[in-house]
Amino acid sequence: MGGGLVPGSFVLIGGEPGIGKSTLMLQVALQIPGEQKILYVSGEESGQQLKMRAERLGLTPNNCYILTETHLDDIFAQTAAIQPDILVADSIQTLYTSAIDASAGSISQIKECAAQLQRYAKESGVSVFVIGHITKDGNLAGPKILEHIVDTVLHFEGDRNYGYRILRSVKNRFGSTNEIGIYEMQGNGLRQVENPSEILLSQREEQLSGTAIAATLEGLRPMMVEVQALVSPTAYTVPQRSATGFDLRRLNMLLAVLEKRCGARLNQKDVFLNIAGGLRVDDPAIDLAVIAAVLSSGQDIPLNPKYCFAAEVGLTGEIRPVSRLDQRLAEAEKLGFERIFVSKYGLKGLEPRFQSKIAPVATLFELFQAISKPR
Ligand code: TYD
Ligand code: MG
Repeated sequence: MGGGLVPGSFVLIGGEPGIGKSTLMLQVALQIPGEQKILYVSGEESGQQLKMRAERLGLTPNNCYILTETHLDDIFAQTAAIQPDILVADSIQTLYTSAIDASAGSISQIKECAAQLQRYAKESGVSVFVIGHITKDGNLAGPKILEHIVDTVLHFEGDRNYGYRILRSVKNRFGSTNEIGIYEMQGNGLRQVENPSEILLSQREEQLSGTAIAATLEGLRPMMVEVQALVSPTAYTVPQRSATGFDLRRLNMLLAVLEKRCGARLNQKDVFLNIAGGLRVDDPAIDLAVIAAVLSSGQDIPLNPKYCFAAEVGLTGEIRPVSRLDQRLAEAEKLGFERIFVSKYGLKGLEPRFQSKIAPVATLFELFQAISKPR
């Protein structure tokens, strides 16, 4: 939240169904210190279900009141009686107000309920959290229309098949965005992950081709992330391209650059890309690792496991510097990496102790030569 909860703030928590939004908010609600009163309104689950979840989380009740209700006018009757400091509404799609003649979940209901909740937050000084479901295919009709009304937008994301979750602030009127929290969904709720790099690197005995490690930064946090690529002959006239955890258009762009600048012949190859751990990475510094993973798989040469990568790649194949190199290098060093491929440009001011660790490259072709060399 950028250092604390501002009274009267209006916060949207969006994410796919089943990702853990209710768990996160109930866990937060139950852990807020006793002198704060929380009203957790659920239109999604029964009181019994909420009680079972709270028991599963192993948290003893504090000053958290639970209300199962979807009619906003009745909810406001309860807030008037209870006078909470914090209100959680789970979810915006289930709420309705009689001020509008439309069914719950419709755009007009969502807008009107949000407007009323916002007014309530601003007038009373109560901080209001609303949960909103967002579908995977980017169909954001619903919560997306709220993004401009609220002060803060947090996205809760991750792959449901993996335990890891990232809470990402995408808009914050009261603090910096780009901040993230990393959690693991366990049998008894969400636990904070203290050392993400150590878990995100898949543990392997032998080095396989097609994997490369990127030294990324998520918010202020350095994180080593494993990129996996599979390049194989296609059985179709149009080769397949797919990316999990990475922007597909960016992958296509990087593949086009590889073809043009390194002569890689990918037009008859399927290319699949995956970010290990089910995370989505936005940091452009991952580009170089994507390229390295594709080259490694395409030529079936494993990369040295002590190598990692941190640079952006431009359209002409130039390798661009990335922000906070010192921090990335420190994390890489801590985890035992011995050679970090970075841009030849932007090395000014680098801590001298890192000089022996870096492998500066200026073009994709240089990278290609460096990693193709027999070790
Ligand atoms: P939930 O919070 O209901 O998701 P959302 O509100 O975003 O729809 O959580 C969904 C999943 O989390 C559900 O499949 C069960 C799982 N879960 C755990 O693995 N451990 C737990 O302690 C809890 C409470 C839930
Ligand atoms: Mg829920």
